[in-house]
Amino acid sequence: MSSLASALQTTVGRKILTGLTGIFLTLFLVVHLSGNLSLFVPDGGESFNRYTEFLHSFGPLLWIAELILVILFVTHAYIGISIYLRKKKARPVDYKYYKSQGGPSKQNFASKSMLISGSVILLFLVLHILHFKYRVFSPETYMTTIDGEPMLDLARHVEVAFLNPWIVAAYSAVMILIGVHLKHGVWSAFISLGAKNPRTTAFLYTIGGIVAVLLALGFLVIPVYIYFNGGL
Ligand code: HEM
Repeated sequence: MSSLASALQTTVGRKILTGLTGIFLTLFLVVHLSGNLSLFVPDGGESFNRYTEFLHSFGPLLWIAELILVILFVTHAYIGISIYLRKKKARPVDYKYYKSQGGPSKQNFASKSMLISGSVILLFLVLHILHFKYRVFSPETYMTTIDGEPMLDLARHVEVAFLNPWIVAAYSAVMILIGVHLKHGVWSAFISLGAKNPRTTAFLYTIGGIVAVLLALGFLVIPVYIYFNGGL
């Protein structure tokens, strides 16, 4: 049996893998948000289009990065669901009420809703990639020219999408869920990776909260700003 397959057979192994994949996915979110914030450069989307064009210029290397990303998402979701199902099998009747235990247990709404928030984020991701990467919901392909070269105007695609109040409402709801998912997820990833000392876990809980709020707010501000500003 491969070491990955045998790691998946143990609860500790599964938790370590969910934690590791979760940390890499959070790092992806930090990079994605940093790139997306270039939409706020007041140049009509040129900086953002240059940034996406720069990414596309990596060609096959970008495909490899995307494949790694897909593997990370699928592994993270698969193990997350399997941990939930095993827990459910071990305790088929759910507790009626969850009470915060304080200290390191951090039983709360976020920790109990990981499966729901995770499933919504997964569904969002599929629609988001179809929407912005493959532009299947866009009525037309917007183009622009930069330095005399014709280029995909992805900034315009994002702008058109976020002038639609339904899309803005849906994105806003999902960004809040991402915050809820990360609030518990970041902390819990470090616990799974071995953080035990109560002071360290309390510190990591605060860090997890800050990362969650910053990422959720950072993503949320984009659709909300474009909608209320009437464009970029
Ligand atoms: C306001 C928020 C967001 C905006 C404006 C945005 C924008 C975009 C755009 C324009 C693309 C296409 C990039 C390209 O074709 O080069 C894209 C791809 C992608 N986005 Fe987002 N995004 C947002 C939020 C998110 C969130 C919250 C996640 C994850 C939960 C996410 C995950 C992805 C992924 C995985 C891809 C595909 C990356 C690739 O294949 O290169 N995005 N996004």
